[in-house]
Amino acid sequence: MGEPPPNLAARLRAHGQQHLLADWAALDVNARERLVEQLAGVDFAELERLFRRRNEPHAALPSRERIAPVPMEPRTTAAIAVGEAAIRRGEVAALLVAGGQATRLGTDRPKGVYPVGPVSGASLFQIHAEKVLALRRRYSANIPFLVMTSPATHDETIEFFTKNRFFGLPPDSVTFFQQGTMPALDLATGRLLMEAPGRLCLSPNGHGGTLTALADSGLLAKLKANGIRHLFYFQVDNPLVRVADPAFVGRHVETSSEVSSKVVAKTDPAEKVGVLGLVDGRCSILEYSDLPHAMANERATDGGLVFRAGSPAIHLFSLEFLERITSGPTRLDFHLAKKKVNCLDDAGKPFAPTVENALKFELFIFDALPLADRWLVMEVRREDEFAPLKNATGADSPATVRKLLIDRAARWLESAGVQVPRANGESKFPLEIGPRFALDESEFRIKLPNGFAINGPTLLNT
Ligand code: UD1
Repeated sequence: MGEPPPNLAARLRAHGQQHLLADWAALDVNARERLVEQLAGVDFAELERLFRRRNEPHAALPSRERIAPVPMEPRTTAAIAVGEAAIRRGEVAALLVAGGQATRLGTDRPKGVYPVGPVSGASLFQIHAEKVLALRRRYSANIPFLVMTSPATHDETIEFFTKNRFFGLPPDSVTFFQQGTMPALDLATGRLLMEAPGRLCLSPNGHGGTLTALADSGLLAKLKANGIRHLFYFQVDNPLVRVADPAFVGRHVETSSEVSSKVVAKTDPAEKVGVLGLVDGRCSILEYSDLPHAMANERATDGGLVFRAGSPAIHLFSLEFLERITSGPTRLDFHLAKKKVNCLDDAGKPFAPTVENALKFELFIFDALPLADRWLVMEVRREDEFAPLKNATGADSPATVRKLLIDRAARWLESAGVQVPRANGESKFPLEIGPRFALDESEFRIKLPNGFAINGPTLLNT
């Protein structure tokens, strides 16, 4: 490839982005091909439209009168049989989103490889995969396991699963697919930023990219052809998630919901979770960064928070709903964020900004919620189902995740009559109950051997 393709050069000129070819002469053939390929995937008109929105207020929340708390159903056991039947019929697939860059955790590896098992050191990926494995065994059912990655996490994620023999799952039941990327724009000019000569600054397009990636890759059609009717969606960062919880699936099926979401009660108004609420009667998630202080702190007469339906980002989508919203003109819209992004400066030299210099774009999966005509919100106990790993230290860190896993194991053991040695209220020893031993407390009680005692660090996972 000698000269840049003429139509590409013209396209860039039309959008004032000629600088992207400034280094062309210095690039080798491979780098030229990569750049042409990267630019082929860029929708410049869409970026111009987004750039014009850069100074809009962060979120255009509707007025308070249009927002109401969402009614929450308690988790009951009545629906379990219905959910189990749907799983047995092979109608449920599990979708793990693992394309994020784990910046806050301070690792440059995919978050899923992070060890969190208090005794075993099991990774998040292992824990999630073993849950799917245990479900497959319990219900003798095919449960496709989809793992969404991004260019930042894709190769290493596949390598990790392969090295660990897919954690016992049949390899053909696991599908990795990549979400899309979006270029970062220079905040002042709207020009695309370059991270190196011939390479755009690209980042994952947000977990909302799941929907387009599912539809555009043909996966959605394939799932449908294989009889899947419900997609259980969860994030890589939560080892306490109950994958395809039968009670949740059952209620979703019984109510013919298009989207069902789990929630945990928020007690701290400042907690960094999205909050489910009704906006003009439609189920929506109000992101923590957008929720006005007054609303986050509003109290009901019983003293509890009015907007307390915190989102652990656990959803169940009906496949028909996903087809409907990905096939028509309704596509999710991008959220804009001003960020510091390392890039090349005008002279082509590496530049590390000290203030926000870039505009980045992400789609959020939960923007799909208000599109649902029938929906369901189920409240679950936080200590049973939510232990997010976000930060290197402090809240939602490896230390808090480990403690939550040990605490849950201690609760299950004690309620089964086992004495857990404690010091200052905490278990003296690290304890771990893995998914291969039990997926829930009732299974745990059945499997626990008589006379089981704790004399040191304890791992149950076979
Ligand atoms: C997220 C939710 C928040 C919820 C909380 C629960 C958003 C904007 N907010 O917050 O409402 O209460 O989780 O823990 O999501 N991911 C991708 N691709 C991307 C970006 C993210 O796959 O392009 C995945 C990550 O790998 C992760 C998940 O999405 O599994 C969440 O991303 P993260 O940025 O950690 O969300 P939070 O701000 O913590």
